[in-house]
Amino acid sequence: HSATMFLLVLSLLVSGSQASHFLGTMMTYYPGETQTNGSVSVILRYKQNFVECSQSVTWNCEGNCGSWTRMLPLTKVEEVSGEWCQTEGVITHQLPNNTGFQTKLDGGAWINNILNRIVNWRAVAAVELRNRSDIGKPNTSPQTTILPALRVPVNCPRTINLLAFDPDGDEVKCRYGNATDSECNPCDPPPVLNVSSQSCSLTFSSSVSNTSS
Ligand SMILES: *[C@@H]1O[C@H](CO)[C@@H](O)[C@H](O)[C@H]1NC(C)=O
Ligand SMILES: *[C@@H]1O[C@H](CO)[C@@H](O)[C@H](O)[C@H]1NC(C)=O
Ligand SMILES: *[C@@H]1O[C@H](CO)[C@@H](O)[C@H](O)[C@H]1NC(C)=O
Ligand SMILES: *[C@@H]1O[C@H](CO)[C@@H](O)[C@H](O)[C@H]1NC(C)=O
Ligand SMILES: *[C@@H]1O[C@H](CO)[C@@H](O)[C@H](O)[C@H]1NC(C)=O
Repeated sequence: HSATMFLLVLSLLVSGSQASHFLGTMMTYYPGETQTNGSVSVILRYKQNFVECSQSVTWNCEGNCGSWTRMLPLTKVEEVSGEWCQTEGVITHQLPNNTGFQTKLDGGAWINNILNRIVNWRAVAAVELRNRSDIGKPNTSPQTTILPALRVPVNCPRTINLLAFDPDGDEVKCRYGNATDSECNPCDPPPVLNVSSQSCSLTFSSSVSNTSS
């Protein structure tokens, strides 16, 4: 029962100049009650990082989306003025049956002046609501949080834990975005970063020596 239910794309910020504005997103879902008529509900929690708090993008649902309600409109979590702003929101879907759906967030305005020149990005959450055979209930997605823009000194290698966890005890794996699925464009990881799929950590190391500026 391992499944990727969220996508987190990370890039290395190398400059402070930003005409474009996206810095990442995450989504997790929590299944609600199953009614006797087969109707199910699910709660979607998401975060978005942009340069300014006024910026946002709307999730687009595809499939058995049912009726949905914005329980929490996008609300500021944290802000570093002029650099990044994290907002969060909650959407509840009421579905006529337990057929799942996908919800997507995409755009073409990742921040400028980053090492791997990513422009286009897409985040997809696949919501699966059929009962699992092991627990007799629908799956809950992996949980994670979203990192703000991190600045690290070029000569200080470090490992950043992506803090992924699954409440059902499933294995969680982490990966880069995939260009074939339009998750990012371009998708080439910057040479100074490496993601460990098993430990969900991101390693930064630069070949620039200590004496370079
Ligand atoms: C679930 O409901 C959708 C309508 O949103 C319908 O198209 C679909 O056939 C239903 N699936 C099942 C298994 O009943
Ligand atoms: C199923 O029951 C729920 C709660 O009782 C109700 O909100 C929903 O409209 C019902 N759905 C159908 C398809 O009858
Ligand atoms: C899923 O399991 C719940 C009990 O946890 C049960 O009430 C429900 O009918 C099951 N749904 C399906 C579609 O089997
Ligand atoms: C990207 O996705 C395609 C289609 O889903 C798959 O065939 C390919 O192996 C993936 N590439 C990587 C690097 O994961
Ligand atoms: C990332 O780590 C893997 C496994 O340790 C290694 O095979 C790969 O070459 C590394 N990639 C980069 C870009 O350092």
